[in-house]
Formats: sequence, structure tokens, C-alpha cells
Amino acid sequence: MSETKSEIVWHEAAVQKEERQKRNAHKSCVLWFTGLSGAGKSTLANALDTTLFAQGATTYVLDGDNIRHGLNHDLGFSNEDRQENIRRIGEVAKLFVDAGTIVSTAFISPFQEDRDSVREKLGEGEFIEVFVKCSLDECERRDVKGLYEKARSGKIPSFTGISSPYEEPSQPELVIETDQQTVEESVEEILRYLQSKEMIN
Ligand code: ADX
Repeated sequence: MSETKSEIVWHEAAVQKEERQKRNAHKSCVLWFTGLSGAGKSTLANALDTTLFAQGATTYVLDGDNIRHGLNHDLGFSNEDRQENIRRIGEVAKLFVDAGTIVSTAFISPFQEDRDSVREKLGEGEFIEVFVKCSLDECERRDVKGLYEKARSGKIPSFTGISSPYEEPSQPELVIETDQQTVEESVEEILRYLQSKEMIN
């Protein structure tokens, strides 16, 4: 393994990230939405993406359920697999940032250490941790996919919030309380943050 690695040489890109950002007229970054299943990560990521895209930005969404159908179809929900899930997504998100894209990711990403590892891969200000905060009671009441009911009856083991932990972000850039404000208000709040950091105009 290490022999092969030593023979792999990193190639500098001919077109730099900064040139791509200049042409896009915005910076590139990862909006890392984290929270319980049913908290509203995908809804928020997609609503933000829709707004930014309509404004002409180069954007993309990486979503937990979709990525687990393809790239990460080999991974389950043990702590190790969740860690590997987030590691791979972090690498993919970094590629999107290099490509000049504003990428929104929607993964439970329950462990602080794993989220911090992604942050460390990225440049200053490029990783924006958005805690999608919603009480377990409310997520369970919504039970959009019917998974909480299955988890409670023991049909799904290691379910986040029920039989597997969720570590709340210690220092997120943003906290969005989805049981307190509308999707539109939340999108506005994120856009204001991006403007204040001069990521977008
Ligand atoms: S993460 O923990 O590794 O970040 P990820 O966001 O990719 O999770 O996937 C979570 C989605 O998988 C949930 O929204 C839910 O639909 C589904 N799921 C299936 N089994 C589980 C489980 N045991 N715990 C949490 N989510 C699960």
C-alpha cells in the first residue's frame, strides 16, 4: 500500500480554484448541515441550493440517502462506517470546493471528531457547520420516513437519537432551529451569513 502511495505524484491543477471562483463571481465553500434524521437537513440544503442556483451561483447538494445508494453503498451504520461515510463525503466536498462550487451537504454526521476532520481538510472559512437543531420529540413526531417507529420497535438497530448517539456541534457557525422558524427564514439567515463573510454578493 505505502509503496504504491510513494509512487503517486500530486499534480498541480492548471486552472486554479481562485480563477474558478472569480469567473463564478462567488467564493466556494461547504455548508455542512448536521442534525438528527428528520430535523430538516435535506429540506434546508435543497431550499438554499435552489435559491443560490436561481441567483446564478454554481452549486450542488450531497445528500445522505442518495450517496448511500452509490458511492457509499458498501457502508452501514456502525460508528466505523459512519466515520468512513463522513470521511469520503469530506473528500468529495473538498473536490467540489476546488471546482469553485458552493456545496451543501446533508448528513447526520453524528460525531464531532468526524466533522472536525472535514473542517481540517478545508481552508479557512470554507467549512461552515450548520447545526440543524430540532428536538428528538419533534423529529419523532414528524417521522417523515417512518424510521423512528421502526427504531423504537427494535426493527432498526443503532438508530441515531434512539440507540446511537448524536453529538451536538460545539462551535457551529450557524444554528437553525427548524421547529422555530420557516424554511424561507432559515434560507435568508444562511444567505445573510454568506454575505457577511463575503462568500457571495
Ligand atoms: S450518518 O450518520 O452516516 O451521517 P447519513 O446521513 O449518511 O448518516 O444517513 C442517514 C439516513 O439513513 C437517515 O436519514 C435515514 O433515512 C437512514 N438510516 C437508516 N438506518 C439508520 C440508522 N441506523 N441511523 C440513522 N439513520 C439511518
